[in-house]
Amino acid sequence: MASLLVTGGAGFIGSNFVAHWARENPGDRLTVLDLLTYAGNRANLEGLNAELVVGDIRDEALAFGLVESRGIDTIVHFAAESHVDRSITGPDAFIETNIIGTHTLLKVAKRLWVDTGKPHRFHHVSTDEVYGTLGPDDPAFTETTAYAPNSPYSASKAASDHLVRAYHHTYGLNTTTSNCSNNYGPFHFPEKLIPLFIINALHGRALPIYGDGLAVRDWLHVEDHCRGISAVITRGRAGETYNIGGGEELPNLTVVDTLCAAVDRAFAGNPDLARRFPDAPAASGQPTSVLKTFVADRPGHDRRYAIDCAKAVAELGYQPRHSFESGFAATLRWYLDNEGWWRAILDGSYRAWMDANYGNRGTSTQ
Ligand code: NAD
Ligand code: TYD
Repeated sequence: MASLLVTGGAGFIGSNFVAHWARENPGDRLTVLDLLTYAGNRANLEGLNAELVVGDIRDEALAFGLVESRGIDTIVHFAAESHVDRSITGPDAFIETNIIGTHTLLKVAKRLWVDTGKPHRFHHVSTDEVYGTLGPDDPAFTETTAYAPNSPYSASKAASDHLVRAYHHTYGLNTTTSNCSNNYGPFHFPEKLIPLFIINALHGRALPIYGDGLAVRDWLHVEDHCRGISAVITRGRAGETYNIGGGEELPNLTVVDTLCAAVDRAFAGNPDLARRFPDAPAASGQPTSVLKTFVADRPGHDRRYAIDCAKAVAELGYQPRHSFESGFAATLRWYLDNEGWWRAILDGSYRAWMDANYGNRGTSTQ
């Protein structure tokens, strides 16, 4: 039986991972350490067999006590500030959590595991954004692509990746790192492209497309990502990094057009949606695409990300199972079936946190 500490386990990917791991390894013990920032949500862990400890990964005494008292042998490190736009308007929190927080956990792991000879694994969840941006004809990112982060977010993740690497090489900490592409799926916080646009479409609000809408992302269903992380934890080699992608490179405009068409089809097939969301264009027979609005580009916007995950395929047997088409259809159904989840965010903690921290400068979901 393993005992896992999942940092950031009340966020989007972390909570999906807790659900995935608990399903696959029912005998294991799961402890979540999460500060419950605006992005963390107790509701994401409802019904899951995991203990939630509310606290900061920068709190060394707390992390030390948890790893010691819960007999933790595996840390799966998701906790981070994760939204590029926020890193542009307020980078400090990214430096604190993503760099200092990661280093705090590494120090704890070294003291309790390396210094005592206890078998362990420290898995660090990172991003393809550390590799920078690609031209249209460049080959996809591999694990040996040079780091060239362009946003405060990706720079802070790159720094944390380097610290993880250094703790392996210098101290012999048993680490693995995964660098994944853009995730989507259930429990995705409604500030990121896909959930924001679904909810805006249901309310008849503009869909703000940055620049020309031709930036390209490689879309990965969160369940595929969780399977990839599990494979790295169980079969990945110490000190190695693994890219995890969805194999679905799409320009943003294609994603938005897919989303608009799927919302139109959902309304056409279910008259109750027009009653629930009367402000949606689709409620009055108009195409959702009327909401598409081109706005100023994100400063430093990376043009293209693409992941080459051949190493994870060859070494770990990883394969994404979801096409974007089927994964997106399931995701839209989830948001339609779980209105209570996102409405509570819009009505409560999210709005309060935004007001306190960003005034009216953040992405609007109102
Ligand atoms: P998220 O923003 O949904 O969740 C982050 C979680 O971390 C939240 O629950 C938050 O409360 C918690 N947290 C933040 N600061 C903390 C602190 N100081 N101490 C303890 N907990 C804290 O993020 P996500 O999308 O689930 O991303 C998870 C990880 O995956 C991150 O490391 C991110 O960089 C990486 N990643 C995400 C994507 C993506 O598409 N979402 C892509 C690549 C990599
Ligand atoms: P996002 O979900 O923020 O992920 P990331 O920046 O980490 O890739 O954005 C995905 C893409 O969608 C990115 O190219 C920026 C673009 N985008 C918009 O065009 N409008 C929006 O309102 C948002 C949030 C993103």
